[in-house]
Amino acid sequence: MSDTRDPARPDAAASAFATLQVQAGYTPGTAQNTAVPPIYQSNAYEFPSLAHARDVFALRTLGNVYSRTSNPTQLVLEERIARLEGGRSAVAVASGQAASAGAILALASQGHHVVAARQLYGGTVDLLADSLADLGIDVTFVDQDDLDGWRAAARPETRAFFAESITNPLATVLDVRAVADIAHEAGVPLVIDNTVATPFLLRPGDHGADLVVHSVTKYLGGHGTALGGVVVDMGRFDFGADPRRWPQFTHPSPRFGDQVLWERFGPTGQALTVYLRSKYVHDFGPTLSAWSAFQLLQGIETLDLRMRRHSDTALEVARFLAQRPEVARVHHPGLEGSPWHAAAQRYLPRGTSAVFAFDLVATEDPAADDARLERVIDALRVVRLAANIGDARSMVSHPASMTHGHMSAQQLAQAGISPTTIRLSIGLEDPADLIADLARALDAA
Ligand SMILES: Cc1ncc(COP(=O)(O)O)c(C=O)c1O
Repeated sequence: MSDTRDPARPDAAASAFATLQVQAGYTPGTAQNTAVPPIYQSNAYEFPSLAHARDVFALRTLGNVYSRTSNPTQLVLEERIARLEGGRSAVAVASGQAASAGAILALASQGHHVVAARQLYGGTVDLLADSLADLGIDVTFVDQDDLDGWRAAARPETRAFFAESITNPLATVLDVRAVADIAHEAGVPLVIDNTVATPFLLRPGDHGADLVVHSVTKYLGGHGTALGGVVVDMGRFDFGADPRRWPQFTHPSPRFGDQVLWERFGPTGQALTVYLRSKYVHDFGPTLSAWSAFQLLQGIETLDLRMRRHSDTALEVARFLAQRPEVARVHHPGLEGSPWHAAAQRYLPRGTSAVFAFDLVATEDPAADDARLERVIDALRVVRLAANIGDARSMVSHPASMTHGHMSAQQLAQAGISPTTIRLSIGLEDPADLIADLARALDAA
């Protein structure tokens, strides 16, 4: 976990996205001098002396201890994503869920409260409304476009605001700056799940967000072969301004050698990530494997190329669907008629990513609608029925009974997901093949 701004590092000489996505975080330094970051497949790390081991264990010195908390391949991934997001430090974990859980647990504990957007990935809704509730963390869900709703929901016990920059599955676009300002008025950080946008399309930290989480599983990895998550800290939120509100960072703890994390790591923007790694990753063990970190790094090297192609193809498919009589509505912020088109133009000038949804025309007969929905989905051949997004392959799913199936009818309705909503994650195939496949499926219905 070295400082990415060390001027001696080769990647410190570059700042362009395409250079950083290939080089950031890795300095060939081993005897083998591999140009590509290697897979460090070792559970443990030798200490040169007991004195050094004691310093590392007491966090007086940062270093590798045991691969449950960090691995050198994972550290390259952390630094690379931190650089791409414009952040100061990062912790990589086993999945996007572990990243969201870790970010919230680093900020909130029993008796605390989180304000979250209603329009979240279903697994995040489960995490907030069920598992974190079990731990005594309360949540209020608000419509993410209702700025007064965010303001009104904040309480003295609130410790975080949480939202997605582009939502899964309806591709609504958050006014990141406005929600960040309200979070800061309430004295809490804004956490943004930037999975669907990726830092190539949008850097939430540039618009006031304090923490960014990713399911690296999706576009960052890009090939559907490895799960991973990351928490990036912009290093800007001043936990020292209200020490009684943030004792985990501002009070000494025996867990950290009686050090005050804010004093020791605040200046380098690492206080929160050191806390998250040393406490929750250490205690709960949501470890990213070196092999997965390696695969995710390979994906990131082509992120800008892929995100342009994903975005262009998805918009072409959305335009096609918008003209079909079987389709009642296409939820895509690149379409001129979308309520989020202006937000997309402001926040997503490079493209609008490739997760979006459309609603089939509904009738008075829900059973017949459902049968038609099944016929459409089952008729697709090029677009695969699978519960993933951000894959090189195009995928389709039915949110109400799959990814968001644990949500109540009321939660689904509030999130804008209807029984006939179909989600697409457009891959890297030729747009003509995807459009022909969708046309065939709609004809079959
Ligand atoms: C927006 C978003 N955030 C987080 C997650 C969770 O990520 P993972 O499956 O890597 O745990 C997902 C998974 O679909 C997602 O779509």
